[in-house]
Amino acid sequence: MKKQVLTFRVNGDEYEILIHPKTLLADAIREHVGLTGTKRGCDTVSCGACTVMVNGMSVKSCSVLAIQCEGMDITTVEGLEENGKLSPIQRAFLDNGSYQCGFCTPGMLMSSTAFLNEMGDKKPSEEEIRESIEGNICRCTGYNSIVRAIDAVAQGKYKEE
Ligand code: FES
Ligand code: FES
Repeated sequence: MKKQVLTFRVNGDEYEILIHPKTLLADAIREHVGLTGTKRGCDTVSCGACTVMVNGMSVKSCSVLAIQCEGMDITTVEGLEENGKLSPIQRAFLDNGSYQCGFCTPGMLMSSTAFLNEMGDKKPSEEEIRESIEGNICRCTGYNSIVRAIDAVAQGKYKEE
């Protein structure tokens, strides 16, 4: 099958890459754009380690073809910090020890960022927070500290710096 040109933005930068039409978004990000923060932890769309934001929505990047993202805005974990400053959820994860091996962490950060953006000023319940990361598996089962971090940001304890 002939390769195709894909033009999209990743973390605000424009990329034009030549890819096989069956290339997954996760692989395009890792292998063609060169950003390896996005992980592939399974081949069954179940772990969430590959989660990125596509036009602001949280998406498992192993579940979509890169070519479907023509003209779209992709945000990966590398795009969360701004001018060297970590985002509120990144700082909350650090303060709350919300990671152990860290393999799931990029996906957790992306799912929770999309969730918090969607919530705006609304304070989510613990149940809503848990639901927001139900597509992300942490094999070390450190869920409580992750929920604490998301809640702390939702409660306004971490502002954009
Ligand atoms: S690698 Fe995408 S859900 Fe596991
Ligand atoms: S921190 Fe180990 S899998 Fe999530």
